[in-house]
Amino acid sequence: MTRRCCSLGLLTALLASGCEDPTSAARIESLGPEPGDYPVGPNHRPGQPCTWCHSEGGNAEPFELAGTIFLRPGSRAPATSVRVRLFGPDGKQRSALTNDAGNFFFRRGELGLSHPLWVKLEGQGQLRAMQTPLRRERSCAGCHRDPAGPSSAGHIYLLEDP
Ligand code: HEC
Ligand code: HEC
Repeated sequence: MTRRCCSLGLLTALLASGCEDPTSAARIESLGPEPGDYPVGPNHRPGQPCTWCHSEGGNAEPFELAGTIFLRPGSRAPATSVRVRLFGPDGKQRSALTNDAGNFFFRRGELGLSHPLWVKLEGQGQLRAMQTPLRRERSCAGCHRDPAGPSSAGHIYLLEDP
């Protein structure tokens, strides 16, 4: 099984589109009910595109940027205490730490960086960077969904499979 995305075509399409347009009731609906592993709050819905709901016009407090880091490509175990660093065009940076579910988020006013945004992860002695910057999308999972395939880069992970 290939776990990585990336025909050049997919990559270009993902990066050019910013993946999707931010809000719609139908999209929120398509995510279904709470998976139930965690109560509604900072740990809920790991791996889902948080800002489909957490946005103006969504059904929850707007976030500037949010996502989930999993431990490995072949596992849904969370990668906790990972430092997610974002670098703006002017060299400014901000970071957040993933929580027990592997989630991180910046509430409105907490990020304060303009796009394009470069992304780097640090944890367990590993460094992992996205080669291309974010241009618009505010949910990592807008592009990084399971399963990896023609329309998704697959979930974000910290460590390679053993
Ligand atoms: C399907 C819609 C939906 C998705 C997807 C979703 N949430 Fe939420 N979230 C809600 C709702 C509804 C609430 C409760 C209302 C509120 O607190 O704004 C909530 C509450 C929260 C809260 C508590 C709000 C507060 O003020 O502290 C946090 C934190 C949170 N979610 C984080 C996340 C993260 C991180 C993700 C992605 C990994 C995510 N949510 C994905 C709908 C969603
Ligand atoms: C617009 C689509 C898109 C968004 C949004 C996006 N990514 Fe990516 N990401 C990609 C693509 C495509 C790749 C593979 C090519 C590359 O590295 O640029 C990738 C690769 C990565 C990698 C490197 C994976 C490896 O092979 O080591 C990491 C880490 C990563 N992304 C983290 C994130 C984080 C964290 C976020 C949210 C803050 C995010 N990405 C948001 C499309 C996206």
